[in-house]
Amino acid sequence: MNYNKIFQNQLNEFKSKGFNRTFTPIYRYQDTFPFTKIDLPNEELLKTKINPDTTIWCSNDYLNMSHNPQVIDTMINVIKEVGTGSGGTRNISGTTPYHDQLEKKLAEFHIRESALIFTSAYVANQTTLATLCKRIKNIHVFSDQLNHASLIEGIKNSRAACSIFKHNDLTHLESLLASQNISQPKIIVFESLYSMDGTKTDIKEYIKLAKKYNALTYLDEVHAVGLYGEGGRGVAQEQGVSQDIDIINGTLAKGFGQIGGYIVANSTIINFIRSFAPGFIFTTSMMPSVAAAASKSIEIVETLDNERRDIFNKAKYFRQKLQLAAIPFIDSDSHIVPILSYSTTKAKLYSKLLLKHYNIYIQPIFYPTVPKDTARLRITITPKHSMKDIDILTNALKTLFSSEFKKEEIRSSNHNQVA
Ligand SMILES: Cc1ncc(COP(=O)(O)O)c(C=O)c1O
Repeated sequence: MNYNKIFQNQLNEFKSKGFNRTFTPIYRYQDTFPFTKIDLPNEELLKTKINPDTTIWCSNDYLNMSHNPQVIDTMINVIKEVGTGSGGTRNISGTTPYHDQLEKKLAEFHIRESALIFTSAYVANQTTLATLCKRIKNIHVFSDQLNHASLIEGIKNSRAACSIFKHNDLTHLESLLASQNISQPKIIVFESLYSMDGTKTDIKEYIKLAKKYNALTYLDEVHAVGLYGEGGRGVAQEQGVSQDIDIINGTLAKGFGQIGGYIVANSTIINFIRSFAPGFIFTTSMMPSVAAAASKSIEIVETLDNERRDIFNKAKYFRQKLQLAAIPFIDSDSHIVPILSYSTTKAKLYSKLLLKHYNIYIQPIFYPTVPKDTARLRITITPKHSMKDIDILTNALKTLFSSEFKKEEIRSSNHNQVA
């Protein structure tokens, strides 16, 4: 058996469809962000940080918390005190006061009984859903069509029966719920902010359906925590329904700028996952310094109302400019602005041209991350991007999109677009 040939054939097929991925090494300098250096051939230049001149527009460090001086000091101090690694799983010497404090902080932040931390939000989703859906006999899962891979993996891994409803389509969801016996256990799995579109979910309608059909609710707030709701508590809190969701999932890696993930729920559910989820139990716990930095970051993020307002004002300004320039984008009131190129080839080309001619770095997003023929440049605006930076970006995009080649594509597209 030639195993390598099997691997190579699949890679060739993937590449021939244009889905090959390349990763760009970036130095996200703390003192100059969003300006930085990428892909410099000269190592010496890189070290001396001369003239960072490339603007990054696609970071998920939404509030620049990975560069926050207080968070950095906290992390360094804890490393000096207790070292780098945690030294074990949570069960075997890998629980420190920093882990406990972070779980307490998260429960308080979401005003819930308990919280549980994981090494990433991917792991949190995957292992929580797999565990729940394996252990509740006969449970039927209802999952949004655009749910993140970590949610899908968790559901699939459990082998529970699953119905996929059309994205944010409550009528479709209700018809699927109604087709199951009312006494059968059920769980609705969805996200509060779909990050590739930047659109929010009307959570209270899901809760109404969950109550009517006797279903649990599992809400991924990964792209929302830190940014929406009072103190950044998320979209469910913003909509006044946070306490009605059974399990909320979040990340420490985006709005809070560190790494790791978590769930919050009542203490029985948290104890259940803590006791039975392999992805929680059988892995080394996060670095104590990361746990401490995450607690510090949450404490600061709660106070960042001005930064949140600033991001939304800038995003609104950017959308207005895009509309005036007839550049197709997906409209919303969030901090994420996806510019549509539709074809993967064009998304890659635009990304390349932006870097080459304008020193602008935006990673192209394409299948399988988003559905086929909906490739895009996903732009995220942080407090450190200025209005002037937005003007420069819009002008560059305008030049790209105004060539005949691109106009033709905009005309031929039938995607739901503004402009
Ligand atoms: C909706 C959603 N859930 C979960 C995750 C996983 O988060 P993490 O990066 O903390 O693993 C992501 C990652 O981007 C995501 O987009």
